[in-house]
Amino acid sequence: MTPFKAVILVGGEATRLRPLTCNTPKIMVPVLNRPLLEHFVDYLKTHNIIDIVLATGTSPEQVQDYFGDGSKLGVRIAYSIENLPLGTAGAVKNAESLLDDSFIVFNGDVFTDIDLSAMMRLHRENKATASLALTPVDDPTIYGVVETDSQGRVRHFIEKPSWDKVTTNMINAGIYILEPGILSYITPNTFSMFERDVFPLLLEEGQAVYGYPFQDYWIDMGTPDKYLKLQHDLLHRYIGNKGTKFEGESFVHSLAQIEGPAIIGEACFIDRNAIMKGPAILGTRCRVEEGAVIQGAILWQDCKIGRGAKLRNCLVASRCCIGEESEILDGCILGDDVRVEKGNKLSNGIKIWPGQTIEPGTISS
Ligand code: GDD
Ligand code: MG
Repeated sequence: MTPFKAVILVGGEATRLRPLTCNTPKIMVPVLNRPLLEHFVDYLKTHNIIDIVLATGTSPEQVQDYFGDGSKLGVRIAYSIENLPLGTAGAVKNAESLLDDSFIVFNGDVFTDIDLSAMMRLHRENKATASLALTPVDDPTIYGVVETDSQGRVRHFIEKPSWDKVTTNMINAGIYILEPGILSYITPNTFSMFERDVFPLLLEEGQAVYGYPFQDYWIDMGTPDKYLKLQHDLLHRYIGNKGTKFEGESFVHSLAQIEGPAIIGEACFIDRNAIMKGPAILGTRCRVEEGAVIQGAILWQDCKIGRGAKLRNCLVASRCCIGEESEILDGCILGDDVRVEKGNKLSNGIKIWPGQTIEPGTISS
C-alpha cells in the first residue's frame, strides 16, 4: 500500500485552552513533558507515515524552532502557512501543492490509538472519496455528528447540533482519509470548513463518503478538563498505578513522599515532608518546598511551590510561583509567570492570565 502523507491542522486559535496557550501553540503544549506534536510524530511513524504537512497559522516559529524539517525525529515535515485563518478545509487547499495521492488529515488536537492501517484498508475497499473516523461520545453536541447507513456510508454530517438534532452518539473524530479530487470542491484562499461546507456538499452530490467506526483510545485535548484527563490516562497507562518516572537527576528529600503514577522532570527539588500524589507531573527544574502537596496536578517547567502550599487537580504553566500555604484547587489554570502570593486559595476553575500577581491573602474562589 502506498505510504500516505498526513496533513495536521494546527492553525486554530486554541482559545479554550487559554491561558495555557497564550504563549504556547496547542500542538506544542506538553503532554507527559513532551510537546503534543512529538507524540503525534511517534504515532504516525508506527503507521509508516513519515511525510507530514503542518497546516499552521501565521506564526509557526515555535514549532519550526523545535521540529525544523523533522529529520531529527526521522520524518519529513513541510510547513503550509496561512496569512489569515482559512478554516479546516481552506488550510488543506492551501497545502495542495504538497499533496498528490490519497492523504490523511488530522485535527491537531486529537490523541488517539486508532488503527490507521485498518482505516486505510476500509477506505480502499469502499473505493471511498472520503473516509471519516467515527468514535462514540456521551455528549455529541460539542462535536460533528455523523449518521451512517448499514453499509457505513455517511448520510448526514451535522456540526455541533442541538440535542434535538442528535440522532447518534457517533461523532467525527477529526481524522479523514481523502482522495485528492476532493480539493476541487474547496475554493482557494477562502475560509471554508470540512465540517460545515465540504462534507455537506459532498453528501449532497452523492459522493462516496464512508465512516470508519473505532473503539480505540481517542480524546480531543483542546479543553482544560480533557487536557488534564489525557495526561492522567497516559500516566496510568505508561507509568502504572504506583510508579514514578524520573527524567533525569532530581533531589527528593528522604522524608518526602511520592505516590505514583508520577513523572518528575530533570533537576527538580522536592523538600522534606512534601507530598506528591499521582497522577501528577512536574516539568524540569520545579521546586517543591517543605510540606507542600501536589495532587493530580500538572506543572510545566521552572515552577516554585512554596512551603505548605497545596495544588490539587490544576494546571500550572511555566515559571509560576506559588506562595507559602496557598491553595490552587480543582480545575484552576495558571498561565506562564503567574505569582500567587502567600495565603491565597484559588478554586472553581479560576484562570489566571500570564504574568499576573495575586496579592497576599486575596482569597478567591
Ligand atoms: N490551519 C488551520 N487553519 N487549522 C485550523 C483552523 C484554520 O483556520 N481552524 C481550526 N484549525 C485546527 C485546530 O488547530 C484544530 O487542531 C483543528 O483544526 C480542529 O479545530 P477545533 O477548534 O479544535 O475544532 P473542534 O474541536 O471544536 O471541532 C472539530 O473537532 C471535533 C473532534 O475533536 C470538528 O472537526 C468536529 O467535527 C469534530 O467532532
Ligand atoms: Mg478540538
